[in-house]
Amino acid sequence: MAEQSKKWVLMVTAQTPTNIAVIKYWGKRDENLILAINDSISVTLDPAHLCTTTTVAVSPAFDQDRMWLNGKEMSLAGGRYQNCLREIRARASDVEDEKKGIKITKNDWQNLHVHIASYNNFPTAAGLASSAAGFACLVFSLAKLMNVQEDNGRLSAIARQGSGSACRSLFGGFVKWVMGKEENGSDSIAVPLVDEKHWDELVIIIAVVSSRQKETSSTSGMRETVETSALIEHRAREIVPKRIIQMEEAIQKRDFPTFAQLTCSDSNQFHAVCMDTSPPIFYMNDTSHRVIGCVEKWNRSEGTPQVAYTFDAGPNAVLIARNRKAATLMLQRLLFHFPPNSDTDLNSYVIGDKSILKDAG
Ligand code: ADP
Ligand code: DP6
Ligand code: CO
Repeated sequence: MAEQSKKWVLMVTAQTPTNIAVIKYWGKRDENLILAINDSISVTLDPAHLCTTTTVAVSPAFDQDRMWLNGKEMSLAGGRYQNCLREIRARASDVEDEKKGIKITKNDWQNLHVHIASYNNFPTAAGLASSAAGFACLVFSLAKLMNVQEDNGRLSAIARQGSGSACRSLFGGFVKWVMGKEENGSDSIAVPLVDEKHWDELVIIIAVVSSRQKETSSTSGMRETVETSALIEHRAREIVPKRIIQMEEAIQKRDFPTFAQLTCSDSNQFHAVCMDTSPPIFYMNDTSHRVIGCVEKWNRSEGTPQVAYTFDAGPNAVLIARNRKAATLMLQRLLFHFPPNSDTDLNSYVIGDKSILKDAG
């Protein structure tokens, strides 16, 4: 490579959807490796609506690693970015582009620098899992660029070191992040439960209550919870393990009433441990609470759940409707209760056409 011209640039672009947990990850047992205190399960969203697009480029002309997020340069100094870059570089292999006359060996990758440009087509750091789509896409695109020969399960363990929730975005459908037992995190990976075709009548509606950046990031929020909440240990040890088993069964059987009950309860319990944190963390706001009331009331009046709700670390609602008819009726209700241009206007409704989509890339 040394004797080649400094003019070439090699680029790869990838697109990765976000995922929303139906059994939440909240709390780490290892902050550096990002190892969770409980298993979690999520659904991967339709990348047509909520996704990250990342282009990674390498050139001998680059003298340092640099990254731009949504057009603004940001520092790569944080341990998370460095951990992902290091893990991918350690697995790089030879790359040859005959047309461009480029040959990069495994060793060259250790000295070459990358430029990364990433865009989220949805609000960043607003509780719609931008860190999940973001780090999954970063790891996936770097792995492609550096010709890393590892499957998505192994890549998920690297994405996890960027943001825990990111490991689940390497697969489509319903995905489980197994917390693992090993101290080095080698068994803390994402495993696909069922693919996107398994339960394709589900429709996901995202009601954006606020696209503003949240005050408490997920990382610091869960750290404070682990340090101060008396409830979190009970949740992680006693409640979640049972829910994981029940949720896996509900997904396998496409049992919507059980799925909805578990999803709503787990979201509510996650927000309860946030409130049990000192000082308390409030991710939901009055509008979020009104959305919950609206869904609960409708589900009760129908006699069986039509829609499940879940809220991540932010005020925005993710509504999972049992089918297209339920989604349409839900939207009508939302438009009635939260009319556009009113004080509580939910400024956008994003509807997943095919709610659950394919594997990353
Ligand atoms: P969210 O609820 O959106 O996941 P978090 O607090 O978990 O919020 O994480 C937000 C952080 O994730 C951002 O401040 C940024 O550091 C990182 N992030 C978001 N999008 C990307 C991206 N596309 N590429 C790399 N990092 C990203
Ligand atoms: C509420 O994965 O964003 O969305 O690992 O510190 O980056 P870090 O946190 P992050 O936390 C996600 C929390 C959650 C629930 C979930 O996605 O499981
Ligand atoms: Co996040």
